[in-house]
Amino acid sequence: MFLKIRPETPADYPAITQVNDLAFGQPSEGKLVEKLRKNPKFIPELSLVAEINGKIAGYILFFPVVIKLENREEKETISLAPVAVLPEFQRKGIGSKLIQEGIEACQHLGYDSIIVLGHSEYYPKFGFKQVNMWGIKDPFGAPAEAFMALELKEGALEGACGVVIYPDQFLEV
Ligand SMILES: CC(C)(COP(=O)(O)OP(=O)(O)OC[C@H]1O[C@@H](n2cnc3c(N)ncnc32)[C@H](O)[C@@H]1OP(=O)(O)O)[C@@H](O)C(=O)NCCC(=O)NCCS
Repeated sequence: MFLKIRPETPADYPAITQVNDLAFGQPSEGKLVEKLRKNPKFIPELSLVAEINGKIAGYILFFPVVIKLENREEKETISLAPVAVLPEFQRKGIGSKLIQEGIEACQHLGYDSIIVLGHSEYYPKFGFKQVNMWGIKDPFGAPAEAFMALELKEGALEGACGVVIYPDQFLEV
């Protein structure tokens, strides 16, 4: 299996929607990606596909968000969502590779932390920890164990007590 992780190109857009639709079993995440792509904050270098022998088998997106601190200042961070692998390609390490290479790409672009809302048993193996240790809150009322963050620089989230503000597109799904 020749696996290549690379940034998306416009030719990948339909396949990316399909990967999300099939992985999640619903059209919400694929539509979310299509909407976020039109948001000026979208970073194509952080919209990554996993290609196997020319076929798009997986996808991951990192999108800039801010934490609204208690002193009303904002701290920039980046959200990991969605990540999706076609059902027939799951459990082969593709999701892990997308996450690992995505983390490196975020680091390369200067981000000091990443947040994720997702499976509480999946992300800790990449170093993510529950956000309540920093006092970070999600705006969706998700279970505490599902909201996690990763510091890319030691201490990056110290004092980052506040609510994460997502772009409206996330609230529409
Ligand atoms: C989650 C997902 C991206 C993982 O991709 P993947 O390529 O299968 O992941 P990997 O092969 O790197 O890792 C497999 C491991 O992930 C874990 N895992 C997969 N799905 C999981 C889930 N829903 N909850 C907890 N752990 C999960 C398993 O422990 C598995 O390890 P095992 O094979 O030893 O049991 C993929 O399963 C997927 O697309 N799921 C549907 C969409 C989704 O839920 N996305 C994430 C939203 S937070």
